[in-house]
Amino acid sequence: MKTYLVTGGSGFIGSNFIIYMLNKYNNIKIINLDKLTYAGNLENLKTIENYPNYIFVQADICDRYAVENLFEEFNIDYIVNFAAESHVDRSIQEPEVFIKTNVLGTVNLLNVAKNYWKIGDTFTEDKKYIQVSTDEVYGSLGENGYFIESTSVNPHSPYSASKASADLIVKSYYDTYKMPINITRCSNNYGPYQFPEKLIPLIINNCLNKKLLPIYGDGLNIRDWIYVDDHCKAIDMVINDGKFGEVYNIGGHNERTNIHIVKTIISYFKENIDSSISESLIKYVEDRKGHDRRYAIDPAKIKDELDWYPETNFEEGIDKTIQWYLENKGWMKNITSGEYQKYYEKMYESI
Ligand code: NAD
Ligand code: TYD
Repeated sequence: MKTYLVTGGSGFIGSNFIIYMLNKYNNIKIINLDKLTYAGNLENLKTIENYPNYIFVQADICDRYAVENLFEEFNIDYIVNFAAESHVDRSIQEPEVFIKTNVLGTVNLLNVAKNYWKIGDTFTEDKKYIQVSTDEVYGSLGENGYFIESTSVNPHSPYSASKASADLIVKSYYDTYKMPINITRCSNNYGPYQFPEKLIPLIINNCLNKKLLPIYGDGLNIRDWIYVDDHCKAIDMVINDGKFGEVYNIGGHNERTNIHIVKTIISYFKENIDSSISESLIKYVEDRKGHDRRYAIDPAKIKDELDWYPETNFEEGIDKTIQWYLENKGWMKNITSGEYQKYYEKMYESI
């Protein structure tokens, strides 16, 4: 039985990953270490929380003793590090915590794992550390071209700079110690359980509440959207078959402008839920500082080496996603009470 230490497993992608893995394999154990920041939500894991091979531990990835205790108690085979501060807008307002969690937390996980996994000068072949990173480390593209794994990192926000820093440190543990690692760099995810500070769930929530729909700048920034389960599938494949020391880009060739995303969600609501929802709710607001124009992933390497391909096209995925939020209004209501209201009012005070 393989034991996975999944960090940040109560957030958006981490919770989808745990659900994906526990539904796929019945011979694995998953320990979810999560600090439960504003973005962590135990409700995300309700469907699997009583599985005998699932364990939750509330802790900080920066806490050396907490991580060591888990290594003492369990024979951990894999670390899958999702834990991070993940929102660009918050990183512009408050960068320090991004450096602490995303950089120092990663170093702490690497150090503890190295101490437990290293035997003499080498590591056993069956252990691996996976750093879940992002295409944002590459910076911004013009109208043409794609990010490939050898594209230089050129991050622009404190968030992406902290993720790029962590990536370089993870790679250095391979170069220096031959520690078995992989780094995955995925494009923008969407799907169930995403915190409504990110574009898609924020627009869905605002449509549900007939609130204005904020679009930064001219709305023509492009993101390359991937349904979260396709990302989870890719991470599982990288854990099993990724070559030690390698970076894998993950993306599904689903480039869309932000305005297209917002209009797609409006159309769904207008046609299926409430005919009074219309494009008149769109409100162009001041642009994000340092706003990256375009992200686009070339996933050829993971396709060729690991035979990964995305199963959900954007039109199917976005309908599925909107339907999930409509069927889980209680989840949205719980997560948008309290702190979220203050965040929203401060962030969108101009509208
Ligand atoms: P999220 O913000 O929804 O979840 C982050 C989780 O990490 C939360 O459960 C939070 O409680 C936990 N956490 C934060 N600080 C912690 C700490 N110090 N110790 C332990 N736990 C802590 O983020 P997400 O969107 O699920 O992203 C997960 C990972 O995937 C991040 O590393 C992010 O950089 C990366 N990523 C995200 C996307 C995307 O589109 N969301 C795309 C590519 C890569
Ligand atoms: P976001 O979901 O925050 O992801 P990221 O910045 O990591 O790509 O934003 C996606 C795009 O949507 C980005 O170009 C910023 C834009 N955006 C808006 O126009 N309005 C909003 O209210 C938000 C949250 C994002």
